[in-house]
Amino acid sequence: MASCLASVVAGVGSFLPPRVVRNGDPPLSGLDTTEDWIRTRTGIERRHWVEPGTSTGDLAVEAGRAALRSAGDPVVDLVVLATTTPDHHSPGTAPWVAARLGLGTVPAFDIAAACSGFTYGMAVGDAWIRSGSAECVLVLAAETLSTITDPTDRGTAVVFADGAGAAVLRGGDSGEPGAVQAVLLGSDGTRKDLAVVNAGGSRHPDPEGAAALADRCLRMRGPDMFAHAVRRMTEVSRLLLARLEWPVDSVGAFIGHQANQRILDKVADLVGVPATSRFANIRDVGNTSSASIPLVMDDLVKTGTVPCGARTLLTAFGGGAVWGAIGLTWPDLKPAV
Ligand code: UT7
Repeated sequence: MASCLASVVAGVGSFLPPRVVRNGDPPLSGLDTTEDWIRTRTGIERRHWVEPGTSTGDLAVEAGRAALRSAGDPVVDLVVLATTTPDHHSPGTAPWVAARLGLGTVPAFDIAAACSGFTYGMAVGDAWIRSGSAECVLVLAAETLSTITDPTDRGTAVVFADGAGAAVLRGGDSGEPGAVQAVLLGSDGTRKDLAVVNAGGSRHPDPEGAAALADRCLRMRGPDMFAHAVRRMTEVSRLLLARLEWPVDSVGAFIGHQANQRILDKVADLVGVPATSRFANIRDVGNTSSASIPLVMDDLVKTGTVPCGARTLLTAFGGGAVWGAIGLTWPDLKPAV
C-alpha cells in the first residue's frame, strides 16, 4: 500500500485512583452476590474507585501528563476528552484538563460516546490530523463511573470502575509504526434503553434532587447489552479487517472494550483472533468504560509485550448504542522512566 499522511500514536499513558475494591470488599460484600460469581461471570477480581472529591478531570490530568511525557512533551493543538462522567453538566471537562496540563488556549472539547469514547476520540484526532487542522492531538478517555453507580444494584456495582487513559496522535506517515490505518464507527439510537441515567438531563430534569437513587444512576439491561456488544463488536471488527485486507491470523494485538471477559472471549472467538494476540486487564481494573482500551495499551507498552509494527485491532461498544473499531500498527514506544 502506498504511504500517505496518517495520524501516528506517539505516546500513551494511564492513571488509576489508588483505592482498590476487591470483590469481597464493602460495599460489594453487602450485595446479594459472591466473589466467585463476580469473577466467573465477569472476569473481574478488583477495580479502582475514586475517593469522594476526586473527579474525572483529576484522573484525566494524570493520564494526559503520562501520555505527553511518553510522547516527549510535544506542542499539542487539540485536546479531546471522552467521558460519560464529566466533572459538570457544563462546562466541558476538556478545557480545564488542558489548562491543568499547561496547554494554554488550545481547542478542547468533550466527547459523549459512552464505552466507545476512546475509539470516537481517536477518530476525531485522526481526522483533524489528516485534514491538516492539527499536528498533534491529545486523546483522553477518563471515567469515574463509581459516581453514577447505584451501590445497591448488583447488576452494575460489581462491574463499573474508575480510571483514565490517553494517547497522543501526531502527523506522520502511514508506513510508520503506530499509524492509524482505518476507523469505523456506528450507532443505533433506537437502543438507548440498554444503559441509561434517567434523571438529571433535559428530558427529566431533577432540580430538587428528588429522583430516586436508581434514576440518578446508570441502569443497564445487562444480558441485552451483552448480546448487542458481542454482535456489534464482531461485525465492526470483521468489516475493519476486510477493509484493510488483514487476514485475522495476521492480527498481533486485539484489544476490545472491557465490559466483561466473557464478551471479549466471545468476540475474539467469533472473529477468529489467535489466542496469543488477545490482551486485556479487566481482572484488575473492571469496566472503566471509555478508559478501558488505553488502559490496556499503556500496560502493553510498559511490559513491551507487543512487537513494534504489529497489526492492532481496537473495538468497543457502549450505551447509546455506539460502537467502533480502529486498525493501527503497534507504536514504537518505550515505557516512560
Ligand atoms: O460497558 C458497556 C457495555 N457493557 C456491557 O456490555 C455489559 C454487558 N453485560 C454484562 O456484562 C452482564 O450481563 C452482567 C455482568 C451485567 C450480568 O451477567 P449475566 O451473566 O448476563 O447475568 P444475568 O443478568 O443473565 O443473570 C444470570 C443470573 C440471574 O439469576 P437466575 O435468574 O438465573 O436465577 C441473575 O439474577 O445471575 C443472577 N445475577 C447475579 N447473581 C449474583 C445477576 N447479577 C448477579 C450478581 N451476583 N451480581
